[in-house]
Amino acid sequence: MSLTGVALVTGGAAGLGEAIVHRLAREGATVVVADVDGPGAERVAAAVTATGGHAAAVSCDVTSRAQVDDAVRVAANLGPLRVLILSAAIESRRSVLDCSDADWQQILDVNLKGPFLCMRAAIPHLVANGGGSVVALGSTLGLIVAPGHPAYCASKGALVNLCKQAAIEHAPDKVRVNVVAPSATDTGLFIRFSEQAPDPEGLRRHIAELNPMHRLGTAQEVCDAVMFLASDASTYTSGCVIPIDGALAARRM
Ligand SMILES: NC(=O)c1ccc[n+]([C@@H]2O[C@H](COP(=O)([O-])OP(=O)(O)OC[C@H]3O[C@@H](n4cnc5c(N)ncnc54)[C@H](O)[C@@H]3O)[C@@H](O)[C@H]2O)c1
Repeated sequence: MSLTGVALVTGGAAGLGEAIVHRLAREGATVVVADVDGPGAERVAAAVTATGGHAAAVSCDVTSRAQVDDAVRVAANLGPLRVLILSAAIESRRSVLDCSDADWQQILDVNLKGPFLCMRAAIPHLVANGGGSVVALGSTLGLIVAPGHPAYCASKGALVNLCKQAAIEHAPDKVRVNVVAPSATDTGLFIRFSEQAPDPEGLRRHIAELNPMHRLGTAQEVCDAVMFLASDASTYTSGCVIPIDGALAARRM
């Protein structure tokens, strides 16, 4: 598997997005790291170039149409844009009754409107370049749910259908749109969440034990699936969701 052209990664300044940036750069892509954390995006792009890869950074809030359009313009100016990775997301831990209007709106804006704005701006470039691949980071919580994440679960569930919709519209253009759906991994949001617990290591062990494979997922396992979907190894795969979850979403109890 190898990549040519430019890949734009939202949320590339941290966590799984950062790991994906490094993987795509190692596989030959010129990677644009787009993140609301501008200095973080600069740091990750600099780390890629320091190891011989090609990368650029752009400060981008995915909820802003103007900033998304600008990030896509930066990417398209570096070469043929072929890959869009949608990793930027936020979450909060509240019940349905405790979820404020502001929380609901912010999570839906970042996790659902953001991917929509990015696809709307980037897909015409993928079409013009003869095809390409969009990979959205969904979640196990977009397939099955857990208490305390109403807006996150709703956003990730809706993201799946948004991606399926884009996949069928652009199948004739050779633009594929897929979702990878990780469960708790050893990187990013889950680790930060666990650090707030009185016993972070205990919580991680507990969550790992609940998984049929009795462990957390790894960033590398997520990157492997993203790379498969981003590359020509998956040219007949579109509109699908690949769980990276140790069979968690397959289990009834
Ligand atoms: N880490 C996990 O265990 C896990 C599990 C399931 C799904 N996911 C999904 O994987 C993706 C990456 O998660 P992560 O754990 O790496 O998260 P993370 O919090 O470590 O990284 C998210 C990145 O998105 C950026 N971001 C936040 N709001 C933004 C905005 N408005 N515009 C642009 N960038 C913004 C942040 O600055 C950060 O760099 C997310 O879509 C998440 O839902 C993660």
